Amino acid sequence: MATDAGTPIPRFPAGFLWGVSTSAHQIEGAADAREPSVWDVFTAEPGRVKDGSTAAVACDHYHRYREDVALLAGLGVDAYRFSVSWPRVNSPGGLDFYDRLVDELCAAGVRPVPTLFHWDLPAGLDWLERDTAARFADHVSAVAGRLGDRVTTWITLNEPAEHTLLGHALGTHAPGKRLLFDALPAAHHQLLAHGLAVRALRAHGAAGIGIANSHGPTWPASGEGADLEAAEFYDLLLNRLFAEPLLLGAYPGGLGELMPGDVEADLQVIAEPLDWYGVNYYAPTRVGAPQGTEIEFGGVRMPAELPFSVREIEDRPVTDFGWPVVPEGLTELLVGFHERYGEKLPPVVITENGCSYEGVDDRERIAFLDGHIRALHRAIEAGVDVRGYFVWSLLDNFEWAEGYARRFGLVHVDFETLKRTPKASYGWLREVLRQQKGRH
Ligand code: NOJ
Repeated sequence: MATDAGTPIPRFPAGFLWGVSTSAHQIEGAADAREPSVWDVFTAEPGRVKDGSTAAVACDHYHRYREDVALLAGLGVDAYRFSVSWPRVNSPGGLDFYDRLVDELCAAGVRPVPTLFHWDLPAGLDWLERDTAARFADHVSAVAGRLGDRVTTWITLNEPAEHTLLGHALGTHAPGKRLLFDALPAAHHQLLAHGLAVRALRAHGAAGIGIANSHGPTWPASGEGADLEAAEFYDLLLNRLFAEPLLLGAYPGGLGELMPGDVEADLQVIAEPLDWYGVNYYAPTRVGAPQGTEIEFGGVRMPAELPFSVREIEDRPVTDFGWPVVPEGLTELLVGFHERYGEKLPPVVITENGCSYEGVDDRERIAFLDGHIRALHRAIEAGVDVRGYFVWSLLDNFEWAEGYARRFGLVHVDFETLKRTPKASYGWLREVLRQQKGRH
């Protein structure tokens, strides 16, 4: 039984959507059956991925999707968030795979929730180019044309903030560019791609359209002016830059002036109404004034010239990845968004939340999920309209620049044999869902 000091997890509203998430590049493998993506190019460069691994095989989900859908069905989730690999869709037979996957999910009674872009851009395309947004809309049309008869919930992009920051500003993710603020056009073009995708989906009669944005509270390092200012700027980049064009049709803090093209006209596209708003939440960030030196944080080298510095959050347990465990940050974030955006904020779905721990008897993961699910319930009690919660991730998988060293799965994967073994957290979540749905 799911308990915290002996109390069961409170009941969520009827119709609340419980799910788990994955992404194509992180689990599919079968890299030889598709065009390369920027991630294939990046991982082939020595030193880019910490354990030197690639996602050529990953979890081999491409060949084992039936077994993985059976794991989803066994878990009792309502929905499965996966991503559709754009380079695979561009390759012969690529869409057939997603057709089979969607059929298998529907047959198992699990709602398919595809993300149309989760960082694996076809090699040769570049988010610094405006045309990539139009190419994305073509990709989305192809997918909607094929899957739209069975898919009722869509996600355009995954975490354009991280893809911009890590991939284009700091260079620790593909495509490995270290452009600092010159990376901003990559953000604008992704946002434009999102708006064009919403239009393309609607043209196919789709409803249930959202995005998965990464957000977290920003905690100033102190009450001093310089720290407060730095934290405010970080919040602008991580939270407001990606929420406000979508929700308010405007760039915050003068950032629009740094964007390319006819920004006002593009904002009309970017602000196409959404049916729901997806939030990926992992942890708050403690931010202070710049320290004048390059610092290493969470495996990322932060250049000295940034107008802020990221600091440790002390007095908190950390995951095996070193990320602080702060469940109440989720309540704070959602209540803050609700206050900030009011009626402009559509119903929220937590499209990712999870943690990396070693081991199969993963009591820490259970504690993490238990704490965050309760924190989410508190946000609902405080008046935030939250409609769903997706755990990252179903399977241990290729954690980008960290390779296979980080294990976010409810199901352990042995990357030698590819054997799947449900962890204790899988059994725990199954019980939580059973309780929530009144199945005893
Ligand atoms: C966010 C990303 O969307 C996902 O791909 C990644 O694995 C998790 N966070 C964990 O870092």
